Amino acid sequence: MTDMTPPAEQGDKRNQTMILAFREHFGAEPTHVVIGPGRVNLIGEHTDYNDGFVLPVAIKRDVRLVLRPRNDRIVRIVSLDYDGEAAFDLDALHPDPERLWLNYVQGVAQELDIRGVTLAGFDAVLSGNVPRASGLSSSAALEIAAAHSLLVASRQTDVLDGPAIAQAAQAAENNFVGVKCGIMDQFISELGREGHALLIDCRTLAYDLIPMPPEAALIIGNTKASRSLAGSAYNTRRQECEEGVARLRQALPHIRALRDVSSEELEANKELLPDLIYRRCRHIVTENERVLATVTALQQGKLDEVGRLMNASHASLCDDYAVSSDALDVMVAAMQSTPGCYGARLTGAGFGGCAVGLVAPGAEQQVADAIYRDYPQATGIWPEVYTTHAANGAHVITL
Ligand code: GLA
Repeated sequence: MTDMTPPAEQGDKRNQTMILAFREHFGAEPTHVVIGPGRVNLIGEHTDYNDGFVLPVAIKRDVRLVLRPRNDRIVRIVSLDYDGEAAFDLDALHPDPERLWLNYVQGVAQELDIRGVTLAGFDAVLSGNVPRASGLSSSAALEIAAAHSLLVASRQTDVLDGPAIAQAAQAAENNFVGVKCGIMDQFISELGREGHALLIDCRTLAYDLIPMPPEAALIIGNTKASRSLAGSAYNTRRQECEEGVARLRQALPHIRALRDVSSEELEANKELLPDLIYRRCRHIVTENERVLATVTALQQGKLDEVGRLMNASHASLCDDYAVSSDALDVMVAAMQSTPGCYGARLTGAGFGGCAVGLVAPGAEQQVADAIYRDYPQATGIWPEVYTTHAANGAHVITL
């Protein structure tokens, strides 16, 4: 079991390694460290692109850049995780088929430019420790770190507020990278706060910090199972939700998204929907209600109730939304059946990736043991298990 919150010296050591690499590669002193964290979502899955509610936390794993501004419009980045130096010209942005990770940075540059930021280039060393392709938002972490790097290099750190930076990062992924994600991942990477979950209204982008009770610890089980279906099925689910809205409008002409539909309204108009579309809609409508109920339960310290809602969320994602997998179900069952675990569910888009559990402090090892015992036996895959705490969102350190 790995603690995602390493001792402070380890974070410093990582910065030192990156600073040394910067000096060695560029022969100059870097000026800033820019940090964009990954996230885990407590509850509110697939609700963001339905204008609904989500409740994620930022985690102590991040993508960071050690950088120095340049006086021209060239961006040079040495990735310690990929393949040496990559460069692009801010005046000639175009998707790079070879270096996909660079497209996230270029995409953010394009979106900041569209939003009126006069961009300047920079030299940087990049490194990340968010597990990739695991549903912990390493992409959003990179986008948010890239956004702050560009803003720092351009000396325009005050022109966009947090939600606007998150929107630019999401637009980069939608328009340049070509993934139709919602706003959740970028928003929490930007605006997360230590010790808090963030209730986000994905329609208005209003948000509320919800303190995590001290008796609630988080455990993440990484299935290490392939997420090959995630992209295509994600887009299909979006279409199914849109179809649900179009059909429900016959009876509820005021609705703009599934966010506007209550469980009672959905049940009353069930005959307008084919069974599959009804079930997709039922997940979204009930999941929005579960997010708000979870916030109330957290505020009242009712962790058994939070756990019950997380379990119900997993069942709904599995049965109605059909985005779980055998691997995720085994992982979640191992967590749920361990004493000390209040509740557990898949987190992120699904089809693989990670599950999150809410556990009583001190029960983490028991839950991890149950995962290491049950999961490899059922799947033949060796998982990873992490403990984590709600961490701060994006930040910049001046060297
Ligand atoms: C991915 C997307 C998010 C959200 C989740 C599912 O992480 O990037 O916008 O839709 O899936 O809740």
